[in-house]
Amino acid sequence: MRDQMTSQNFISQKREGCTKIRKSPSFPLCQRGMKGGFGAVLTALLILSGPAVTFAASGNNTFTPTNIFAPLSTPAHAIYQNASLVLTICAAIFLVVGGLLAYTIFRFRRRPEHENREPPQVYGSNQIELAWTVVPILIVFVLVLATTRTIYDVQGALPPPDTVNVTVVGHQWWWEIRYPDLGIMTANEVHVPVSESGKRRPTFLRLESADVAHSFWVPQLAGKTDVIPNRRNMMWIEPTQPGTFVGNCAEYCGMQHARMLLRVIAHPVADFQKWVAAQQQPPVNNPQLRAGRDAFFSTSCINCHVIKGTRANGQFGPDLTHLMSRETLGAGVIANTVENLQAWVRDPQHIKPGALMPNMQLSDDELNQMVAYLSSLK
Ligand code: CUA
Repeated sequence: MRDQMTSQNFISQKREGCTKIRKSPSFPLCQRGMKGGFGAVLTALLILSGPAVTFAASGNNTFTPTNIFAPLSTPAHAIYQNASLVLTICAAIFLVVGGLLAYTIFRFRRRPEHENREPPQVYGSNQIELAWTVVPILIVFVLVLATTRTIYDVQGALPPPDTVNVTVVGHQWWWEIRYPDLGIMTANEVHVPVSESGKRRPTFLRLESADVAHSFWVPQLAGKTDVIPNRRNMMWIEPTQPGTFVGNCAEYCGMQHARMLLRVIAHPVADFQKWVAAQQQPPVNNPQLRAGRDAFFSTSCINCHVIKGTRANGQFGPDLTHLMSRETLGAGVIANTVENLQAWVRDPQHIKPGALMPNMQLSDDELNQMVAYLSSLK
C-alpha cells in the first residue's frame, strides 16, 4: 500500500481523513446542544479544530501522509513540540475566554424583573486592566521565546560530518534530485539514510527552481520550505526510522501542481549504500533491445532526457539512467509498471495534461520496442 502510493490514492486517503473529521462526535453534539450565534461560532471552532483532534488521536497506526502530528525526523519533532505548546496555550485561552463569555451571557441575560432598570454602571478597575494587559504580554513572550528557540534549532543547525548532500530542483511538474557528492541523478524520490542508534546521518537539501515557485513539503520529516527561482534555500531532514514518507509540492505552481508528489525513502545505512552503488552503475545495454534503443535515440526524446554515458543528455526532463528503480511515473501520477510506462510514452498528455512531455506519435512497433528498452533501465 505504502509503496504504491500514487496521486489517486493519495487524494482518496485525504478524503477519508475528511469524512473522519465530519463524523467526529463533538460535531452533532454541539449542533444539538446550542442555538444561535454563539453556538454557531463554537460549532465552527470545533469543526476547525477537528483535524487536529482526529490527527492527534490517530497516532502512528493509520497512514496519514500529511500528518504533522506524527513526526519521524529531528526538525519535524522540534516543530511538533513547538506547535503542541502553542496549541495547548491557545486552547486554554479559548476555554477560559469562551467559558467566561458563556457564563456572562447566561448569568446576565435579560430578565422581566430588569425591565425599566439601568444595570449597575462600572467605570474602570486598575487591577483588572493591569491583569488583562500583563498576562497576555507574558503569554506572547513565552510563545516568542519558544518559537525563536525552535527556529534557531532548525535553521541554525550545522551539517555533521556524515551528512548526505542533495540538490532538489523543482520543475513544472516534477522534482529533479541530484547527489552532487555521489554523482547520482534521479527524480521525485529522495533516498536517504536513517539516523540510528546515536549515529547521525542527516540529509541537507539545497532547493532550487528551474521555472516558477514551488514548495518542498514532507510533513512527517520537516516543515515546508519554498523553492524559489534564482535563489537557493536550505533545509534538512533526519528520519529516525526507515520507511517511505510522502509529500507534495505546497505552493501553487500551475495546472498539475497537485500532481507533483514527493517520496522520501529512508533506508538503514547499509541499504542506502547498496542503493547508491546501484545508482552509480552505468545503464544496462542489452544488445537484444537494439531496436528500442535505436527508436529512442532517433527521436527528440534525447533532447530532454539523460541516459548516462550516451548521447541522451537533455536537461529538461527526468534522468532515465535507472528509470525502473523508481516507484512512480509522472511525479506520482501512476505506479511505475511496464504497462503504465507504455501508456505514459504513448500519450503523456492523456495521463497528465499540461506536462511538458509531448505525444511522440510513435507507431505501435516503435512504442513496444522503445518501452522494452526503457523498462530494461533498472
Ligand atoms: Cu510545484 Cu506546486
